[in-house]
Amino acid sequence: MNVKSLCIGRLTTKNNIFVAPLAGYSDFAFRKICYELGAGLAFGEMISAKGLYYKNENTAFLTETTDAEYIKCAQLFGSDAEILETVAKSRVLSKFDILDLNCGCPVPKVYNNGEGSALLARPEVAEQAVRALKKSGKVVTVKMRLGVVTGESVAVEFAKRMEGAGAEMITLHARYRNDYYSGEPDFAECEAVKKAINIPVIFNGGIFTKEDADRAMERTGADGVMLARGALYDPTLICKILGVPAPNMKDIVKRQFTMLAERLGEAVACVNFRKQMACYLKGVRDGKKLKEKVFSAKTAYEYFEVIDAAF
Ligand SMILES: Cc1cc2nc3c(=O)[nH]c(=O)nc-3n(C[C@H](O)[C@H](O)[C@H](O)COP(=O)(O)O)c2cc1C
Repeated sequence: MNVKSLCIGRLTTKNNIFVAPLAGYSDFAFRKICYELGAGLAFGEMISAKGLYYKNENTAFLTETTDAEYIKCAQLFGSDAEILETVAKSRVLSKFDILDLNCGCPVPKVYNNGEGSALLARPEVAEQAVRALKKSGKVVTVKMRLGVVTGESVAVEFAKRMEGAGAEMITLHARYRNDYYSGEPDFAECEAVKKAINIPVIFNGGIFTKEDADRAMERTGADGVMLARGALYDPTLICKILGVPAPNMKDIVKRQFTMLAERLGEAVACVNFRKQMACYLKGVRDGKKLKEKVFSAKTAYEYFEVIDAAF
């Protein structure tokens, strides 16, 4: 793919290979690893605007950032313009450069609340949300899907309206809400969105190899790609697409675990890091056995033994 920097409003990224918001995974340690491996941007997992507004305790961890994040990106989900404006202007989000509005989350708890992918069917509410976020003076972007019902795309119309409301980049997960995470993404719809608007369009969906990234860029004309599960299983995918040598996984995984242990304490990190390790161990020889070891590990020493055996 054509690796190039992108202008998103007043911000300029180092390149056009981005890493997605991933609930339960894209914490400060994962994002630091992604930036160090060369990602142009890496988004924090979705944060409930209401949760921030009502000062839910978990948000301190979710809003943690590191110096590696030369552009800091938070993603919010919500639909209430007043709440979104208040939290966008609040101290807790003051260090973020980009606020992304989630218009893609399919899970019933979010969707049935009129948030996430439900906004695709309520573009006027999404417009108000973007306008509200813009009042913070930050760069506002939107991550969306094609529509709610499979085959009934609203993507072009919705993306145009988001641009009209002031969004400065669209990331298109080229699947429908009802598809959740399966099925082939629709390249033609992404191409149509790219042709319809004048802000950067980032393709997302099903990129697990360099070839997938090349194909997505070629078929859609998008300005960049966003990696999700591909980076979760193998963050060195960023290096592979960039065409630069990757550090070995042993060092990466140890570093990521150590960062978490320093922040959360060893015992909590051992539990917290299990799901990430399960991703890294996919496809590794004896992965199942090693996963069992991870799930009973109580110290960094035990974790490191598994990491040494796996990579
Ligand atoms: C575990 C998991 C958590 C996710 N969390 C978020 C999230 O917080 N915000 C969001 O916009 N998308 C979220 N997504 C969707 C991804 O960002 C991405 O759009 C989707 O996985 C499609 O890309 P892929 O096929 O390359 O995985 C999540 C996906 C997964 C698998």
